[in-house]
Amino acid sequence: MNKILILSIVLFGIFACSSDGNDDDPVIPIKVQASFVYTISTVDSHLLFLENTTSGDGFTSSWDYGLGGGNVNDAPGVDTVRYDTAGTYTIKLTVVKDGLTTTATKTIKVDATGICPNGLCSGGGSETLKSAATTFSVGTITRDSYIIAGGKHTETLKADFNNLTSEYQMKMDKMNPSLGKYDFSAGDVIVKFAQENSMNVHGHALIWHSSTPSWVENFAGTNAEFETMVENYITTTLNHFKGKVRSWDVVNEAFEDGTGHPLRNSIFRQKMGDDYIKKCFQFARNADPNVLLFYNDYNIASSSTKRAAIFALVDNLGSLIDGVGAQMHISYNEPSASSIQAVADGTVSRGKKLHFSELDIRANPNNDQTTLTTARADLQAAKFKEVVKIYNSIPLANKFALTTWGVRDNESWLIAFWKHIDWPLMFNEDYSKKPAYNAFLEGLK
Ligand code: G3I
Repeated sequence: MNKILILSIVLFGIFACSSDGNDDDPVIPIKVQASFVYTISTVDSHLLFLENTTSGDGFTSSWDYGLGGGNVNDAPGVDTVRYDTAGTYTIKLTVVKDGLTTTATKTIKVDATGICPNGLCSGGGSETLKSAATTFSVGTITRDSYIIAGGKHTETLKADFNNLTSEYQMKMDKMNPSLGKYDFSAGDVIVKFAQENSMNVHGHALIWHSSTPSWVENFAGTNAEFETMVENYITTTLNHFKGKVRSWDVVNEAFEDGTGHPLRNSIFRQKMGDDYIKKCFQFARNADPNVLLFYNDYNIASSSTKRAAIFALVDNLGSLIDGVGAQMHISYNEPSASSIQAVADGTVSRGKKLHFSELDIRANPNNDQTTLTTARADLQAAKFKEVVKIYNSIPLANKFALTTWGVRDNESWLIAFWKHIDWPLMFNEDYSKKPAYNAFLEGLK
């Protein structure tokens, strides 16, 4: 085997930061979740560029390129590795911090033409969502009860996903049920599972008018005391999950849908002023210099005026915000590809990361179906392919994750919300794959 290993190291700044958690939880060593992306050289399809994207600091890391040469220390910057011989190679990044080891692996396939894009060689081949999406994370939602029950839910998570969002248990009403009282137990179950399975966790959502506990809505103190309470909540939460949660939706759904899209008159706006969003981002940034901070909202594709309001907020937040969360609760027939592309373009032009954060695609928006016909399933699949293609086309620097809001159709929030049947996700109730699953893979080609 003609194994030529070419290493070209480009110096990257490594950000070091110190954190002094003042959480009253027992001090436990913080695991740092190994993470990496790769891209195939556009000038030589046998060359692979490897980038260590592990969040955090104070760790050592090494590569196994799958070429039989064992582990190679990971120097700062991008590694270039050559794969000349056809075959399947498993690349592993190992990260060690405080004696705790995590790994991330990706499998590539090489044929006579070189490294196969997204693992799909011209001869085809069965890939999983996360093994095919080599340049961004594939996410979905979960709950502690689902993790504890295990079975096909966790089997599917491990097979296809490498990014997890708590559907509802990492929101203020669950994490901070009363003043000074915190309950991170459900989030800890999700984080533990993620760390055991080389997955990242996206925190959702620190501040949301729909998940504000009643004690906050009825806060009797002064505005200054309210602001201090919010800062303490954000600081305590980020300290608890530091090094275990890669990113957070700091604020969710702050804008009204009506004319002009004013800020919702939430208790946070009433007590902290119109700049409450920037204050919350600052509190989060102060608590954890490493975590990625997002603003998250819906109808950002379907409403150009709401999109404009959200991008104005992004501009106002400046360097405090790392990314935009576009929920993407859409339908098989809308919004248009150009509207979805406008979300990508506006985010990329601002140098921010894009998270398609809650993707589901209604197959029955007009309640004109009693079963999911093949025709409608195929139209839904086409929309999945369109969304994935748009997301996969953005620059690597702006990529983050594409998260579906659920695994299997019957668990979707949409059914209760719209009070009629629908099939908005990629898996059937029995966890079998729908046409939408293969369409996701097709969108990566
Ligand atoms: O699981 C418990 C159950 O044990 C209990 O008996 C029952 C009654 O108290 O509550 C159940 O938990 C509910 C959970 O949904 C599961 O059904 C929570 O109370 C309820 O608050 C939760 O609603 C979630 C909602 O956000 C509010 O947090 C939905 O699951 C979740 O899909 C929805 O997600 C939102 C995103 O966060 C933001 N974008 C819109 C999206 C849809 O509304």
